[in-house]
Amino acid sequence: MAYANNKFTAEEFSEFLSSRRSTRDFLPTPVPPEIIEKILQDSLTAPSWSNTRPFKVAVASGDIRDRISEEFLSRWSVLSTIMRKGLRNKLRLLYSRYGLPTSNRLIVKPYPSELKPRAQRVGREMYETLGVVRGDRTARDQQWAKNYSFFGAPVELFVYVHKSLHIYAASDAGLMMQNLTLSAHAHGLGTCAQGAVAIWDDVVRKEFDVPDGYRLLCGIAVGYPSDSSINDFKAHRLEVEELTVKPRNA
Ligand SMILES: Cc1cc2nc3c(=O)[nH]c(=O)nc-3n(C[C@H](O)[C@H](O)[C@H](O)COP(=O)(O)O)c2cc1C
Repeated sequence: MAYANNKFTAEEFSEFLSSRRSTRDFLPTPVPPEIIEKILQDSLTAPSWSNTRPFKVAVASGDIRDRISEEFLSRWSVLSTIMRKGLRNKLRLLYSRYGLPTSNRLIVKPYPSELKPRAQRVGREMYETLGVVRGDRTARDQQWAKNYSFFGAPVELFVYVHKSLHIYAASDAGLMMQNLTLSAHAHGLGTCAQGAVAIWDDVVRKEFDVPDGYRLLCGIAVGYPSDSSINDFKAHRLEVEELTVKPRNA
């Protein structure tokens, strides 16, 4: 059934889509629970594999959010220091294991050569916006650490996917997350998806009763954006030409 749209033009819709950008500095202003409920409802209008919706969301706010953040920051402080220091410290980390990723170790794997330049570009341009000079690892680590205070957002959503559906579960969760982030955007909220928080699933499970068949995909920080210049950062967009593949016999 075609949607009878007399509310906004297709151009206005495209403009709305392109006006969403990741937020990396939030105000402490609380988000009313009914708005969180609404954006979660909107997330469930996305398409899904056989309508299975193979995902779960843990909504962390208040004391739970603070406890998770505190533990993440403590682990990051150990991990980031040890990643930079000599062999003896690395061995000590291996021995104590505190700070080592407990889930999704793969996210620290290097990017393949086809994708690496894109990741490098967004990193370089974002650090330029922040005034962090190339090679300043301390400043980079400090910026990365902000992931673990959820960039100051009062709400962090942890997205879990059902293990059985593999890539289709992640794809469904991606569609759900896109609806959620756009709904949040329409409510004047900012969001930032965060793979960075997927490495210590045990910390989240200590606070939430997540069923065994699910694994942590990523987090999403939700809150009201501050007027920090980092929130004006515009990540590069691909051309459609780079998206599509050519017919073999063109
Ligand atoms: C699954 C996923 C994980 C992400 N993880 C992080 C993260 O850990 N930290 C971060 O600052 N941004 C993270 N991002 C945000 C991307 O860097 C951002 O979406 C991309 O650079 C495009 O910019 P835009 O969202 O402003 O359009 C993540 C995005 C996605 C979809």
